[in-house]
Amino acid sequence: MNKKVGIIYSTTDGQTLKICQRIAEHLKNSGFSTDIIEISAFKDSVSKYPKLIIGASIRYGKHSKKVTAFIQKHKNALDQIDVAFFSVNLVARKSDKNRFNTNPYVIKYFKQLDWTPKIIDVFAGTLDYKSYSFLDRIMIKLIMKMTDGPTSTNTPIEYTDWDRVKAFSIKISQI
Ligand SMILES: Cc1cc2nc3c(=O)[nH]c(=O)nc-3n(C[C@H](O)[C@H](O)[C@H](O)COP(=O)(O)O)c2cc1C
Repeated sequence: MNKKVGIIYSTTDGQTLKICQRIAEHLKNSGFSTDIIEISAFKDSVSKYPKLIIGASIRYGKHSKKVTAFIQKHKNALDQIDVAFFSVNLVARKSDKNRFNTNPYVIKYFKQLDWTPKIIDVFAGTLDYKSYSFLDRIMIKLIMKMTDGPTSTNTPIEYTDWDRVKAFSIKISQI
């Protein structure tokens, strides 16, 4: 059995990559080998991997266009393998918005895409006001205000639930 898993990601501030690295650790513990590849650097055929994970963060309500382009380009091949997708965003820090069928970004994304992976999940990301540009900081404050979150913090807040990431990894190892 080919126990290779491809992990493809799109990130801006690194949280999605961090989650991919954690998933890879869990999969290695279950006997899988992993390749973690930034989405723009992926030049291979997805068919090389019996299992593939796609991770992408939300920025201003959307996943990167690169992710959509990747899915559209490889759609037929993706349908022949086991694919898991996860989204990373701050709205998912709320327990009523942290599942594939309750997170507004994920619901909207898969409504517009003519493709559904075997597993879809959502993880909360990191809030780090100090790393944002002036404009981004204003916008994130607004998003947080609208969703009853902190509007100023000196240190980053990592909302990612690592137990959920582990459960996701185990699920993938079992499909
Ligand atoms: C400029 C900017 C815009 C963002 N827009 C949203 C948003 O619309 N909704 C949301 O829930 N989170 C939003 N976030 C939060 C990110 O999704 C979160 O910080 C995540 O951890 C980023 O993952 P990454 O480091 O892999 O890019 C935004 C973050 C930034 C910096």
